[in-house]
Amino acid sequence: MQMLQLNDSGWAKTYLIYDESSRKSAIIDPVYDYVGNYMEKISDMNLDLEMCIATHTHADHITGCFTIAENTGCDYVMWHSTPSLGVTKYVDENSVLKLGSQEINFYHVPGHTEDSMLIVTSEHVFTGDFLFTGEGGVGRDDLPSGRLKAHWDSLQVMSNLSGDLLVCTGHEAPGVEMQTLSWNNEHNPVLKMTNYEDYVKWQKDTVSQLGHVSKIKVALPANIFAEVPDEIPWL
Ligand SMILES: [Fe+2]
Repeated sequence: MQMLQLNDSGWAKTYLIYDESSRKSAIIDPVYDYVGNYMEKISDMNLDLEMCIATHTHADHITGCFTIAENTGCDYVMWHSTPSLGVTKYVDENSVLKLGSQEINFYHVPGHTEDSMLIVTSEHVFTGDFLFTGEGGVGRDDLPSGRLKAHWDSLQVMSNLSGDLLVCTGHEAPGVEMQTLSWNNEHNPVLKMTNYEDYVKWQKDTVSQLGHVSKIKVALPANIFAEVPDEIPWL
């Protein structure tokens, strides 16, 4: 499976994956603000967009998934328990979606949100806000449907995955390079933890540093109802 990260600026990461021979493609975690750029890129690369996939219901940006699905007729894919409307294909652990001959698998990893999932291809694992690279740790668990203990328990899922997979996360600070799962097992402070109390403390410290999510009151209802607001303050 081929993979490109599409966003030039900002902390949110959006991935385009495609099968080289069939030109079938999928976008993972598109941001509404850049939908025009994504469509141009897909057309320039002569790709056929089969689906948009959201790793979870985002609180920090409006997803581009329902807009792209409405405009192109592609599927909007999410974990089956998501509260988000507009989804056209629900997946679970038994789902195998295909782009040409390439397979995509899914794992439930609740914690950052209840509907968080991993998207796994032959070479990549797309983690959303379940896991970040190295010192980034993991996403915060204090937003709607977030649960500390569920996130901690979900980390066990990583042991089912090959250490060679490249970890493609939902956010990174500018300049952070993507690394393999094996590398993260050595360098991510949360993956190195052995007890839940340390995890709770790490989350508390991290959340107090991050402060409130600036776009949440606009972005979260937009994503749950699959509706672009009349006014988007940051556009
Ligand atoms: Fe998130």
